[in-house]
Amino acid sequence: MFDFSPHPDLAKPELYSALARAANALVEGERDPVANMANMAAVIWQFVPDLNWAGFYRAFGDELVLGPFIGKPACIRIPIGRGVCGSAAALGTTQLVPDVHAFPGHIACDADSRSELVVPVVSNGQVIAVIDLDSPTLGRFDEEDAAGMQLVAQVAALAI
Ligand code: SME
Repeated sequence: MFDFSPHPDLAKPELYSALARAANALVEGERDPVANMANMAAVIWQFVPDLNWAGFYRAFGDELVLGPFIGKPACIRIPIGRGVCGSAAALGTTQLVPDVHAFPGHIACDADSRSELVVPVVSNGQVIAVIDLDSPTLGRFDEEDAAGMQLVAQVAALAI
């Protein structure tokens, strides 16, 4: 059993560094990418409040393919360049979207989603995956969430 319950009063920088440490502990010594993504999605869900979806899409050729996640069933394949996830993969940059309805081309997988944060997972200069967080709250994510999830993406880059 793993118990990584975060302290409820942690400020975001401390919360995300604790999350990155927990993710690192979970993947250490394991090289199966699906197992590692599954545990990382679970620990993200445990640490980051106010989400309705958290998980991975992996890059294969010109599309992203759904990986392990927590949340409602989601779109399976997303062309690179489309939607928030596809933009993060195409540009190799974090996408912080305060209002998904204002993002041209947003792909609505869960009608509850109001804001979204997508960070690319980069290995050897290539985007190999993205981590997608959705929230039912408008403007849920800020630069501290983005910086924190980039730490988590660095853990993923070595584990998937
Ligand atoms: N909204 C995403 C699609 C993935 S789901 O939110 C899980 C997008 O626009 O890329």
